Amino acid sequence: MLKEILTSRGVPALKTREEMLDILQREEYGYMPPKPGSFTWTEKIDIENFCAGKATLKRVTLTSEIYGESFSFPIYAAIPKKEGKYPFFIYISFRNQETDRYMPMEEIIDNGFAVLSFCYEDVSNDCNDFEDGLAGIITRRVGRGATTPGKLAMWAWAAQRVMDYATTIDSLDLSAATVCGHSRLGKTALLCAATDERFFLGYSNNSGCSGASIARGTKGETVKDICETRFPYWFCENYFKYIDNEEALPFDQHWLIASIAPRRVYVASAREDQWADPENEYLGCVGASPIYDEHGLMGFVAEDRFPKVGDVFHDGMIGYHLRAGTHYFGREDWQKLMAYIKKHI
Ligand code: GCU
Repeated sequence: MLKEILTSRGVPALKTREEMLDILQREEYGYMPPKPGSFTWTEKIDIENFCAGKATLKRVTLTSEIYGESFSFPIYAAIPKKEGKYPFFIYISFRNQETDRYMPMEEIIDNGFAVLSFCYEDVSNDCNDFEDGLAGIITRRVGRGATTPGKLAMWAWAAQRVMDYATTIDSLDLSAATVCGHSRLGKTALLCAATDERFFLGYSNNSGCSGASIARGTKGETVKDICETRFPYWFCENYFKYIDNEEALPFDQHWLIASIAPRRVYVASAREDQWADPENEYLGCVGASPIYDEHGLMGFVAEDRFPKVGDVFHDGMIGYHLRAGTHYFGREDWQKLMAYIKKHI
């Protein structure tokens, strides 16, 4: 039933990962900024006995050389003290805080994870300002145009720099890196995981339009809403061609999910978050699933119907849950995400 819905809406067929990533970057997000020429960091201990002494919290400044300029941004690194190799989250945060309403740090540490996090606006501000931070460096070189990176691509690039730093830490299990974020930062997390094969899992929480949610036939936010009303600067200018013209998109958002294959991806939806359109987020998973067949893997193992509150689908390479409530990255989401990871590592 759901596959037929996708077909009847004219959703484009999957292509190779390389082709899908090229089209998504060219037509939607802009091409990802280049990898840095050199990469250094400085760190200091912020809280020795963080979370009742279970972890150490460091404040780290990452510095990358890009287009001949130097770009730095701060991150937090919360690493459990007990010797071990920890699976970890790279959490793209709305706020410059080591714990916040979307990130229950102690609970995450208690579940056996480390967390590296940063505030997206320390990379470049969330407004139509292409002079601030990383955006300034990029725009001085490539300008602002049809295929140049929008802010989502810049924030995703920054999460990849955090991964560069993670590779230098002995107590992190580099085969179990998850990039995660909520809403605009869930879109960012998917783009980050799709364009960097070092991630084991990309997790998007309530990412909606231009994230996990199929654009064609959406009952929530449209390309016009996102580009015209408030957030054109998240994307490259080519994306504006599809305002009121979703049927002309040469892709749909299931390509973003599928570009993470053969690695894992997880989409979390909330019932009352109709702006993100949970049904279309679910269809994104359904549409991406066949890519895993080529790898002999089970993609989305779920029922052939729209989701109901309480559904948790954790068996396939694509994880999913739909919870009650509104647009939020809550403890229930983290618990389900951690359960999925523990099941598969
Ligand atoms: C707005 C925007 C969404 C976005 C959300 C958020 O609602 O329209 O696309 O996901 O902000 O980031 O919270």
